[in-house]
Amino acid sequence: MIAAPVGRALVLLLPPASTFPPPPSPPPPLLFSPFNRRRSSASSLLPSSGILRANSKRSVLAPRSRTISAMANDEETLGSLKKQLAKLFEASLRVTVPTETDVEPLVAACTGNFGDYQCNNAMSLWPRIKGKGTEFRGPPAVGQALMKNIPQSEMIEKCSVAGPGFVNVVISKNWIAKSIQKMLTHGIGEWAPRLSIQRAVVDFSSPNIAKEMHVGHLRSTIIGDTLARMLEFSNVEVLRRNHVGDWGTQFGMLIEFLFEKFPNWEHASETAIGDLQAFYKASKQRFDEDPVFKERAQKAVVKLQGGEPKYRKAWTQICDISRSEFAKVYQRLGVTIEEKGESFYNPYIPGVLEKLSNLGLIEESQGARVIFLEGFNIPLIVVKSDGGYNYASTDLAAIWYRLNEEKAEWIIYVTDVGQSQHFEMVFKAAKRAGWLPADNNSYPRANHVGFGLVLGEDGKRFRTRNTEVVRLVDLLDEAKTRSKAALIERGKDKEWTEDELEQTAEAVGYGAVKYADLKNNRLTNYTFNFDQMLNDKGNTAVYLLYAHARICSIIRKSGKDMEELKKTAEISLDHPDERVLGLHLLQFAENVEEACTNLLPNVLCEYLYNLSENFTKFYSNCPVIGKPEEASRLLLCEATAVVMRQCFHLLGIVPVYKI
Ligand SMILES: *[C@@H]1O[C@H](CO)[C@@H](O)[C@H](O)[C@H]1NC(C)=O
Ligand SMILES: *[C@@H]1O[C@H](CO)[C@@H](O)[C@H](O)[C@H]1NC(C)=O
Ligand SMILES: *[C@@H]1O[C@H](CO)[C@@H](O)[C@H](O)[C@H]1NC(C)=O
Ligand SMILES: *[C@@H]1O[C@H](CO)[C@@H](O)[C@H](O)[C@H]1NC(C)=O
Repeated sequence: MIAAPVGRALVLLLPPASTFPPPPSPPPPLLFSPFNRRRSSASSLLPSSGILRANSKRSVLAPRSRTISAMANDEETLGSLKKQLAKLFEASLRVTVPTETDVEPLVAACTGNFGDYQCNNAMSLWPRIKGKGTEFRGPPAVGQALMKNIPQSEMIEKCSVAGPGFVNVVISKNWIAKSIQKMLTHGIGEWAPRLSIQRAVVDFSSPNIAKEMHVGHLRSTIIGDTLARMLEFSNVEVLRRNHVGDWGTQFGMLIEFLFEKFPNWEHASETAIGDLQAFYKASKQRFDEDPVFKERAQKAVVKLQGGEPKYRKAWTQICDISRSEFAKVYQRLGVTIEEKGESFYNPYIPGVLEKLSNLGLIEESQGARVIFLEGFNIPLIVVKSDGGYNYASTDLAAIWYRLNEEKAEWIIYVTDVGQSQHFEMVFKAAKRAGWLPADNNSYPRANHVGFGLVLGEDGKRFRTRNTEVVRLVDLLDEAKTRSKAALIERGKDKEWTEDELEQTAEAVGYGAVKYADLKNNRLTNYTFNFDQMLNDKGNTAVYLLYAHARICSIIRKSGKDMEELKKTAEISLDHPDERVLGLHLLQFAENVEEACTNLLPNVLCEYLYNLSENFTKFYSNCPVIGKPEEASRLLLCEATAVVMRQCFHLLGIVPVYKI
């Protein structure tokens, strides 16, 4: 049994002495590169080729969402349009080819003249049944039979078979209209993905204590927050974890520097330290220049890790100052997260390593203790040759804790792609230990969500003019200042109160930064450009937020009570542009599910952008106010606004209602 630590990671954590590694002597060399942040580090290892796999374009033959399929918990709730259609084709498959019981329906959305969806099973079925006395004479005949055997359903308007055996399906527009109406009545929760898990851990942001959050933390923080939001929308309990670097060897240096510079630190460290970034830099400089200081710093680490009260107290103070700085950034970004830093898992390491050792997984190698893993040409070092622990030891303890103590069924790690090999090795070790199933697609499972770099205009890592890292607070300030200036240029300072101006400037400015990041496939690098992201045209948050505000203004101008309309009016989709919009609205469910289960926020961004395009086309061809179709069209406007707002919410963007 592993002793549970007392108290939270936020307070001093003093594990029983016996659970500590013996104090290494001589003092440990500084591990890895302690002055670089551990996670989400823009400065950490560059992605190696082979890890990067750009997301393939949505393909009709192999829908992406099949790789990780979400499951319906509840027979009553049928799930997305695509899933409901897949159920019909599944029934047809069982009748058409009763012997092929393991074949799953391949259904994908498509845009074309022939249908809204396609079922593509015929082509792959053919080689399996050919020559086995089948009645069919080629894939088109299989397609015909698949079509004929679809159970009767009001969702389908018509079907046809094309080419080598594609079954095309046109969805009934009345059914689309009814489904939207139902969502308006019951709320957007109707269209939430239904996952088969109850609890997940999302490990994201994870800055290093004593260093300021910079642009390198942006991606982990907002991608992690979005994934957490999508899971929460799917009714999964999410443990949002900030795995801060609060236990590295850099603390020896910081503590010694604190003692040296501020003898009175116990009473006034907060005011004394002031700018933690500058404090960090100065202590690093001292460390690099003076070997005597360096030695003291190394001894201080041992004292800290050995639990000496004075060192623990200094450590707590430094952590507290950092924490309150981080909290300000999270507050601005609208991100909630709970800290369980590296120090939290430290007391669990010995017990976890013992379990692994008892399973025969740990071997001695050149004085270190390691786990050899198939498929990797380096072993996972779990105890260094000096007896100290490292990231792998902490991550093994953390994954054990999350699976066994927190009972998480899905653990998601959001860090830069450079760390993907490290996590693959940790996951593999957890599989060998039997903590995770061997099969990647069953639960409990662990996934590393990697992302590329934020680049400057020069194509290199984004830096300030004096080649400093870009502080996150400066970046947010500038985004807000610029969006406020744009609002003033539009004369909004004369129309609005100061509060409205401030709030809109923040919503638009921060939203622009988030969206510019999230709309890219996360594995790619992207170039940070304020002018582009704050443009009110094109695929930007500004454009989308304004589009939403315009829809709200159409509804306001109608003077109609939408709650009343929802009860009394009916949606009809007679105009082709109404139908396109309606179908796209209904596809929210499958798109959010795909974004969530495949851990790709860009899918949701693309969906949102297409929605606003579909709306624009609808609105320019289908006048709303004062027309016979007014009530139906207002409901379509309302449904669009509801879905857009839900997309904004999932992306962590605050909607604006007027512009
Ligand atoms: C599971 O995922 C790992 C890491 O992505 C990969 O190397 C391995 O081949 C996968 N295994 C299966 C059975 O797909
Ligand atoms: C991202 O940028 C880094 C550094 O310039 C480069 O090594 C890497 O290949 C880039 N990744 C992609 C996907 O282009
Ligand atoms: C409308 O939505 C569909 C997806 O349903 C998308 O493929 C299409 O490009 C959108 N139309 C416009 C005009 O953007
Ligand atoms: C968005 O529209 C583009 C262009 O029509 C289409 O290729 C893409 O599949 C659509 N994506 C979504 C998520 O609607």
